[in-house]
Amino acid sequence: MSKYPPMVLNMAPLPDPVDAIPAATLSSYQPAALNAGSSLLMMQSVTVSFDGFKALNDLSFTVSEGELRAIIGPNGAGKTTFMDVVTGKTRPDQGRVIFGSTDVLRKSEAAIARLGIGRKFQRPTVFEHQSVFENLMMALANPRGPVAGIFYTLSRNDRRRVQDVAEQIHLQDVLHDPAGILSHGQKQWLEIGMLLAQEPKLLLVDEPAAGMTPAERERTVEILREVSQARSVVVIEHDMEFVRNLDCRVTVMHEGSVLAEGFIDHVVNNSEVIDVYLGR
Ligand SMILES: Nc1ncnc2c1ncn2[C@@H]1O[C@H](COP(=O)(O)OP(=O)(O)OP(=O)(O)O)[C@@H](O)[C@H]1O
Ligand SMILES: [Mg+2]
Repeated sequence: MSKYPPMVLNMAPLPDPVDAIPAATLSSYQPAALNAGSSLLMMQSVTVSFDGFKALNDLSFTVSEGELRAIIGPNGAGKTTFMDVVTGKTRPDQGRVIFGSTDVLRKSEAAIARLGIGRKFQRPTVFEHQSVFENLMMALANPRGPVAGIFYTLSRNDRRRVQDVAEQIHLQDVLHDPAGILSHGQKQWLEIGMLLAQEPKLLLVDEPAAGMTPAERERTVEILREVSQARSVVVIEHDMEFVRNLDCRVTVMHEGSVLAEGFIDHVVNNSEVIDVYLGR
């Protein structure tokens, strides 16, 4: 499956010229797996204050193209605030956020989404009365809202893509069921699928396993690992078994900064991590 042009079929508005990634970047774009190692998202000394309290405090780290990254850390560490900054919901007091070659902090939330950053919130927001297929179709047809999606005519290619996404999120057997009768876990997968339909280059997922059964968690690990074959994925999660199974680099946040980074065995054996987080 190719990632870039023709991007998001014909449903996404083309980026404003100022948002555009230089043509040279696009034309030299390699599938993520081949290009792993080059940086896609760079946080540089980002600080966010709320009434003088620093939710992010000089936060710096980098996510590579095609990388799956987990973020852990105690409550209030700033994990969700990090995602708020990347998506333009919260503006930092200082620091830089670079996505590809674009300075994200100069962009609106909508422009950031158009750059290819998809974010999944904790509570699923699927359309309960529409089928799985229709939910995916609407996401594919128009990332900006369901109304335009209703008036969109699916091409054969689009149907194929909806089918592909449904397979990726393991919902191909319930494609015509209303989303309202899905389990909590299946709704979460559907929402991931709705983001995938828009072909993000970076997918941000905040606590996907919360409220899931053990079997659903295992499947979510599988889905996220597969999804990250074609894009970068950042997952915030408290469930350590889940994070271990993701089998990826882990960034430990504490008090708005990076406390440790590395594979899970490395970070869980770090004495500072044990002190502030695991040893609570
Ligand atoms: N809009 C806001 N106004 C004031 N304080 C905020 C705001 N958003 C976050 N905070 C504070 O910033 C800190 C970091 O919050 P954040 O939600 O990023 O933590 P988190 O690591 O996601 O925690 P959790 O694991 O509980 O989800 C917390 O102390 C929180 O109360
Ligand atoms: Mg949070």
